[in-house]
Amino acid sequence: MDILLVIPLALWLMVPMLVPNSAAVLFGGGTPMDFGKKMKDGTRILGDGKTWRGLFGGTASGIIIGLIQLGIVKSMDAPDWWWHAEFQNTILILFLLAFGSMMGDTLGSFIKRRMKKKSGAKVPVLDQYDFFIGTLILIVPLQFDWFYANFIVDEYIIGLIGLIIIIPLLHKAVNIIGYKMGKKDVPW
Ligand code: CTP
Ligand code: MG
Repeated sequence: MDILLVIPLALWLMVPMLVPNSAAVLFGGGTPMDFGKKMKDGTRILGDGKTWRGLFGGTASGIIIGLIQLGIVKSMDAPDWWWHAEFQNTILILFLLAFGSMMGDTLGSFIKRRMKKKSGAKVPVLDQYDFFIGTLILIVPLQFDWFYANFIVDEYIIGLIGLIIIIPLLHKAVNIIGYKMGKKDVPW
């Protein structure tokens, strides 16, 4: 693999993980995932920022975008650099990337509420990386070979490092766009 390609490749592979959080902002609303329930100390379990529509809309969007990417790759008759995986595995990988991303975001909110931070409050690092950590929690144990082949072995580790650097920048850019579009109350 050309060393200049590993970072764009890592980003391309992770699109189904990157899309769900933004899609959740577009699709979100309605019944909260915690049904408004509170913990014993009176704080919300997750808060109004985590809704079922956001969870399903976000996860489905990530999977659909991944299938479109797969269609593009197949129609180009591209070599095996896109997935390093069989098709059945691909569907599972897409699900793990998209659902893991939403689960990480949910876990992030759970932690934020335990820290007594209101929905939408800023918590550096957690806000930027929660979805990435959620994805890793599912992908690393369940699809280790795929993860190793695309993000760890030889020069591919540079792609992983690139992701770690680019994710907070992407997060910031997307949130500013969401704020300008009136979809988010705060620009972070
Ligand atoms: N959203 C949703 N359901 C989800 C995730 C997100 O409906 N599972 C929508 C909500 O409208 C939410 C917005 O996307 O307000 C932005 O998401 P996020 O920044 O993750 O939530 P916050 O409102 O900032 O709340 P928290 O402090 O819990 O992160
Ligand atoms: Mg937020």
